[in-house]
Amino acid sequence: MYQVIARKYRPKSFAELIGQEHVRTTLENALSQNRIAHGYILSGQRGTGKTTVARIVARCLNCEQGPTISPCGTCASCRDISGGNPIDVIEIDAASNRGINEMRELRESVRFRPARDRYKIFIIDEAHQITNEAFNALLKTLEEPPEWVVFILCTTESHKIPNTIASRCQQFSFRSVDYTQLLEHIRRICEKENITAEEEALSVLTLAGEGSVRDSLSALDQAIACCGDNLQATEVRRLLGRFSMATLELVTNALLELNSTRMLEIVQELEHTGQNLQHFCRELCRFFRNLLVARISGADTRLIAASANERTRLEQLAAKFSEEDLTRYLNLILELFQGLQTSLQPRMHLELGLVKLVHAGRLQSVEELIAQLRGGSAPAPPPAPVPTASTPRATPAPARFTAPAAPKAPPPAPPPASASSGDLRSRLLEWLNDRGQTFIADAVEHSMVSEGKGEVEFVTTKEFKMSVQNKDMQKAVDAVLGRATKIKLTLTDQAPVVAPSGGVDRRAQEDEATTRALSNPEVQRYRDLFPGSEVRAVRNLKESQ
Ligand SMILES: Nc1ncnc2c1ncn2[C@@H]1O[C@H](COP(=O)(O)OP(=O)(O)OP(=O)(O)O)[C@@H](O)[C@H]1O
Ligand SMILES: [Mg+2]
Ligand SMILES: [Zn+2]
Repeated sequence: MYQVIARKYRPKSFAELIGQEHVRTTLENALSQNRIAHGYILSGQRGTGKTTVARIVARCLNCEQGPTISPCGTCASCRDISGGNPIDVIEIDAASNRGINEMRELRESVRFRPARDRYKIFIIDEAHQITNEAFNALLKTLEEPPEWVVFILCTTESHKIPNTIASRCQQFSFRSVDYTQLLEHIRRICEKENITAEEEALSVLTLAGEGSVRDSLSALDQAIACCGDNLQATEVRRLLGRFSMATLELVTNALLELNSTRMLEIVQELEHTGQNLQHFCRELCRFFRNLLVARISGADTRLIAASANERTRLEQLAAKFSEEDLTRYLNLILELFQGLQTSLQPRMHLELGLVKLVHAGRLQSVEELIAQLRGGSAPAPPPAPVPTASTPRATPAPARFTAPAAPKAPPPAPPPASASSGDLRSRLLEWLNDRGQTFIADAVEHSMVSEGKGEVEFVTTKEFKMSVQNKDMQKAVDAVLGRATKIKLTLTDQAPVVAPSGGVDRRAQEDEATTRALSNPEVQRYRDLFPGSEVRAVRNLKESQ
């Protein structure tokens, strides 16, 4: 007879258990020191080992060699528990009959010593479901338990256990099992069952359980029934309604390109291939959550459940967005997911939601622009003419006046463009202008561009971020340098100082700015603070943008 995998591989000893180390250690210590309580509550997420541990404890207590943490497995008691026919272990499923009769019987039977074994053990599964009457019966027994009685209550909802009971028991909470541990567990089971599985397929099965071992093992059963003894990721994904990272990346790519049309095409494609739009959105939530976590804590964090390949991809992708962007996107996708649950028009809902995401990307730069404009015109503190004390003071000569370097380093202005990087800049500008790419060219105008090892760094302000990350910028860089080159974006608060562009008018403006800067009280304060310091150049950031 075929036995489902979850049951076939139910651990028979603590050693076989995965995760739940805290439960295991405490119970093992108690057992080996012979400190046995009369009541235990095992609570926590479904399918994480509560019933399993209850049975293991029963074996440990009643083994002829026991109480022990490693039951022999061969004595009468051990054999009976494995065979599902134990004499002194009574399992009550409160879910199916709410325990009234059993509890009545129980009150009778606790009074008698165990028939054969050391303890009479009552395992009450789904304990939160028993009636008040039954709880009262249980309480009476727990108040004055005969020395040979042990109750083990298993529940997913420990808050529903009355306090009177809970306070007389030792409680253990079961946690969802760690991704890596579960993945390895599934891998071992596949090996024993002679199933070959792609690494990604194992990952899909692990994630399908959302931390519940039983759910993942049921998914494995389902996959074997459907795909035979060779599990391919694509098939397993289709079976379980999961989506590959490549599919989800279509959305991030469309976001990077600010491409609404692409978003609509994605939905069209999903519909066309008969995918479940809600499932897609659920996966999208998880995907953006992972991107955000990768952005905040790095992709190798334990907070992310993903395979090594996926982590690398997450890392690369997350770097293309800011934390704020990802937060905003995730927020919108969660709203979308919620809306989809009850939507009568899921397709339109999804279309609208994805297009909104694109707008949220656009919205950002507008918001920031406004903020910057406001900040620029605000009277104090004046961000307009700010002395930049950047170049080292080798010669005092060209100083027109002396004044301070900024006090405790404000965000450092990027170094002035060197000759060679200016070269790259102008080549880029030429290339872009030739092709009428004025927006992208504008971003180059407002960036410091420098070439490093295998990458080109753009130092610029937030408002040009989108353009620097645009794929046309990538094209331009690749074309000008004649090879695929990574673009590194560094954001700065101050507009970068770029190659000088002289001219008489400019000079006049600069003098005007210098006068204003010198009469600025903030600047004067710096000069007082740092006597003998000098201001080498003054730039009007508002104008240079
Ligand atoms: N920690 C674990 N280590 C190894 N296998 C586990 C673990 N937890 C669950 N399993 C597997 O899942 C199956 C179900 O576990 P179990 O019945 O103990 O879950 P449960 O926590 O009692 O769930 P429920 O709340 O649904 O009753 C077991 O037969 C076993 O194969
Ligand atoms: Mg159970
Ligand atoms: Zn034994």
